[in-house]
Amino acid sequence: MTDRAPLEFTIEHNQNPTSDAERAEILANPGFGVRFTDHMVMIDWTVDGGWRNARVVPYGPLSLNPANAIFHYGQEVFEGLKAYRHEDGSVHTFRPEKNAKRLQHSAHRLALPELPVELFVESLEQLVRVDEQWVPAHGEDKSLYLRPFMIANEDFLGVRAAETVTYMLIASPAGAYFSDPTRPVDIWLETEYSRAGRGGTGSAKCGGNYAASLLPQLTAAANGCEQVLFLDACSEKFVEELGGMNIVLVYEDGTVVTPESDSILDSVTNDSLLQLCAAAGVKTERRPVTIDEWREGAAAGRITEAIAVGTAAVVSPIGTLKHPEFTIENPPVTADSFSMRIRAKLTGIQNGDEPDEFGWLHRLA
Ligand SMILES: Cc1ncc(COP(=O)(O)O)c(C=O)c1O
Repeated sequence: MTDRAPLEFTIEHNQNPTSDAERAEILANPGFGVRFTDHMVMIDWTVDGGWRNARVVPYGPLSLNPANAIFHYGQEVFEGLKAYRHEDGSVHTFRPEKNAKRLQHSAHRLALPELPVELFVESLEQLVRVDEQWVPAHGEDKSLYLRPFMIANEDFLGVRAAETVTYMLIASPAGAYFSDPTRPVDIWLETEYSRAGRGGTGSAKCGGNYAASLLPQLTAAANGCEQVLFLDACSEKFVEELGGMNIVLVYEDGTVVTPESDSILDSVTNDSLLQLCAAAGVKTERRPVTIDEWREGAAAGRITEAIAVGTAAVVSPIGTLKHPEFTIENPPVTADSFSMRIRAKLTGIQNGDEPDEFGWLHRLA
């Protein structure tokens, strides 16, 4: 694939774009994942021809045959990252190469083709340049959420890897994921269902993992919780992750610990948080963590904070972890809590208000 000439993107402008007034209204209160920009990216892949036909086209519905493999076998992977408006008006994204590589990792597991990293990053540049006005203003805790995804796109009911695939990128203005980012979120500890098993797709960002998390998520909601925490499928002892976020625990001596597992997503936010800690001289550990360690540590005051981390919610303190037989109460959050300080640091870098010492930002427009 590397010996091919780079793909040239064609651009077909939307002839019926959202009016300035309507867009301003949407950006004033964007919610999350409900409104979309005027364009999208599509790139085709075939087993014989590789990647081709890279294009920016008007955002709109797809027309697919009901026999398309995507409807039957879930051969699909996706990513999630954001574009941030800086004070000088420029638009940047955060560590896009990591998302590109994770998409390759996910694609490999789902027997989909690996999109070259440069093509992934260029797709972000192409879309954000065309839809730049959709990136919310600086300093409002808003961003443009970017959703790259790849689907099997072949009309065939046999169970095999698709030979025709489509990569797409859509974008959606986003406000804060949780209405008040400083308010601790309550979490339901799921023990009946697993999210992913050993050798399964847990470390891939594929739709099936999220489908499997929805029933437990309903149970969580019925128990007054916003997120669900999964344990490992084999022993049901080790903390894995939330339906859509990694977990970080802070110990009384300041050590920051995050669970290590082959069946969780390699979070860009978590990796960045650990790097920031290491640079500040804070001890970090990525290792297996049992639910008993968390439970006993919190009860004895050894664990002082529990945090959910991911692109959507950035860094959110966890309040109560609920289970039918016990609850884990985490201490109240203060302005000086680790979660609040690291959140300010990370969002500061993303929004261009703190120096980008690690070279994490990538200018899109
Ligand atoms: C299952 C899961 N874990 C963790 C994360 C956090 O990853 P990131 O920080 O790269 O957004 C996400 C969100 O993408 C997720 O869906």
